[in-house]
Amino acid sequence: MKAARLHGFKDILHPETDKLRLVESKIKEVFERFGFSEIIIPILELSEVYSTGLGNTTDIIQKEMYTFETKGGEWVSMRPEGTAGVVRAFIEHSLYRKSPVTKLYYSGEMFRHEKPQEGRQRSFNQIGAELFGSRDPLSDSEIIAMLWLTITELDLLEHVQLELNSIGKPAERERYKKALLDFLSPKKDSLCENCRNRLSTNPLRILDCKTGTCNEIVSHIPFLVRDYLSEQSSNHMDALTRFLGEKSIPYRLNPRIVRGLDYYTDTVFEITTNELGSQNAVAAGGRYDLLVERMGGPQTPAVGFAIGLERVLLLLEKMRTRRNSPGKKQLVSIIHIGEVARVQAAKMAYDLRKKGMKVETEYENKSLKSQMRKANRTGATHSIIVGEDELRKKIFSLRNMKTGKEKSFPLEKLAGLRGHGDLRKLI
Ligand code: HAM
Repeated sequence: MKAARLHGFKDILHPETDKLRLVESKIKEVFERFGFSEIIIPILELSEVYSTGLGNTTDIIQKEMYTFETKGGEWVSMRPEGTAGVVRAFIEHSLYRKSPVTKLYYSGEMFRHEKPQEGRQRSFNQIGAELFGSRDPLSDSEIIAMLWLTITELDLLEHVQLELNSIGKPAERERYKKALLDFLSPKKDSLCENCRNRLSTNPLRILDCKTGTCNEIVSHIPFLVRDYLSEQSSNHMDALTRFLGEKSIPYRLNPRIVRGLDYYTDTVFEITTNELGSQNAVAAGGRYDLLVERMGGPQTPAVGFAIGLERVLLLLEKMRTRRNSPGKKQLVSIIHIGEVARVQAAKMAYDLRKKGMKVETEYENKSLKSQMRKANRTGATHSIIVGEDELRKKIFSLRNMKTGKEKSFPLEKLAGLRGHGDLRKLI
């Protein structure tokens, strides 16, 4: 026989094993601070746990599960994710009787027959958390806060963003799907092959297709899912964003976050990064108030998420390589016009350096053209431009030196920057 592992499966060798276990234990420690306790669920379940849980029209059920018939004639599947298995255990052990709110976390290998690429494997590790028993948006905000604190303690804050959406309840979603179909069906021939199929199976997924033509078509859809939300779902979202604001957790509303699993209701979110190419979600989750009942349990609202451990490790490795090459630290140039701006630029440079950024600015008054030339010569990725006029209006201009794009922002934006990554998000 040839000693070769399956395509898309990975052996994790020392010292990667140590890193994975270290990250895992750091994450578990944060979860325990929030009162979550561990559950260990089997890797193999009856296939119907997943088909009922995740929905028959999802990519996972239609083409990605490792399913086989056992010698006893049962159809079983290797777990593609953890939520459905945890819900099955929650019902089977009547955990809802033990306490009104149950908070569980789990970790381990998941299996999906996807096309392997960087950040996407057929076997990968997740660590996830599920909170059962609360419908209140405070519980959504607590779950997101736990994820955000985890990301903070892994020192990844600067490289990720939290993207948030509400997809409402099934009835609202059906109306939205119908409107989507009316808009997209006449454009069927321009959609990618996958999305042409999705028109009849799962049209919502067309919204997060990364193919160029689909992306272009979707960007012209004249309505958003929030136009279809009921008052209750809108209020839920408003309260959640207020609670996130109170916890100073920054988020971006993204109407194109729809998630690839069928069980979500109302809140959905992803932690995304620009560092991992198209596999940009490091963690993802949402609310799923109907799943426990759908799987045979009592009506129980729930909310949760899962973190992809390999993607966290990839991101940490990229950051480590970048930090260890000081010469490669990205440069920002502050360009000043006029005496007041010259002194102000020195202060701005100091404030940004305190945040770990590499910043250059001229000591002397020089022409805009000469400062811009120097910024180009020294390889600055961005220039912050301040003149007396800008300072009076309490704004600055930011120029992306590669694309030449320039835009004005209020001065407070500078105080809110966490690092160079945030500049890239601005322009
Ligand atoms: P998911 O978005 O399918 O959600 O997966 C969560 C995370 O697992 C992704 O954001 C990604 O980091 C990682 N992941 C997914 N597929 C792969 C892959 N093929 N290779 C490497 N990493 C991958 C769920 O699984 C839901 N159960 C999350 C949840 C929990 N929702 C509510 N509770």
